[in-house]
Amino acid sequence: MSEVALLQSIGLVVVGLGILILLFIKAKFLRVVGFVIIVLGTFSLIALGVPQMASLPPAIETFDITKVKTPDDLAAIGQKIFFSKGQCALCHSIGPSEAARCPDLKGIGAKLAPEFIYESLTEPQSYIYLDFRHHGLPKEYPARMPYIGKNPIALSNQEIYSVIAFLQKMSGEPISIKVEDVLGGGSKDGDMKVAAIGAHGASQPGE
Ligand code: HEC
Repeated sequence: MSEVALLQSIGLVVVGLGILILLFIKAKFLRVVGFVIIVLGTFSLIALGVPQMASLPPAIETFDITKVKTPDDLAAIGQKIFFSKGQCALCHSIGPSEAARCPDLKGIGAKLAPEFIYESLTEPQSYIYLDFRHHGLPKEYPARMPYIGKNPIALSNQEIYSVIAFLQKMSGEPISIKVEDVLGGGSKDGDMKVAAIGAHGASQPGE
């Protein structure tokens, strides 16, 4: 029996007891007690009838990196990170939004090379993207792109590459992030070079 059901049956017993007292006992004081018991019992039954929702912090999802086999798996993880730990969706929209304080990321995976996206995430101040959506001179966006690899968001390299894979996938691009590269270097090697992650569009130095 669930906890609520147990409490409800106790409540019913209490109310029943009150009714019995009122029916069969003539002593005035006990009748008052019986009346009070009925009122209190009814109130607790009503309270227990209200659906309860425990407000717990969101469950932390962990990903078994060994289960990642295809770039699509990476993109699926990236999508979750985009909307949760990465907090990207707090600022960015995918598709036009009136209230956007930041660039719309729709099609970004097709527009930008993965190296550039990586830089946008980890060195956001090195190239500031401006807002051209109004008349006159372009302005800086009111919000600031956080350093995704540092606190408080602090995504690992593996997580960043998963997000890039997601951005490519939702732009209808073939995912150029290679699973082996992400699993191989990953978080152990902090400065894993992005150029090693399948150059896409952009030419690599020395080519
Ligand atoms: C606090 C708000 C905020 C959060 C959170 C945020 N961004 Fe940004 N982002 C911005 C702003 C503002 C810009 C534009 C200025 C700039 O380039 O630094 C930007 C720029 C970008 C760009 C470059 C866009 C372009 O067209 O060049 C990319 C890509 C990007 N963000 C992706 C992400 C991803 C992925 C995440 C989550 C891991 C994220 N952002 C989280 C505010 C944010």
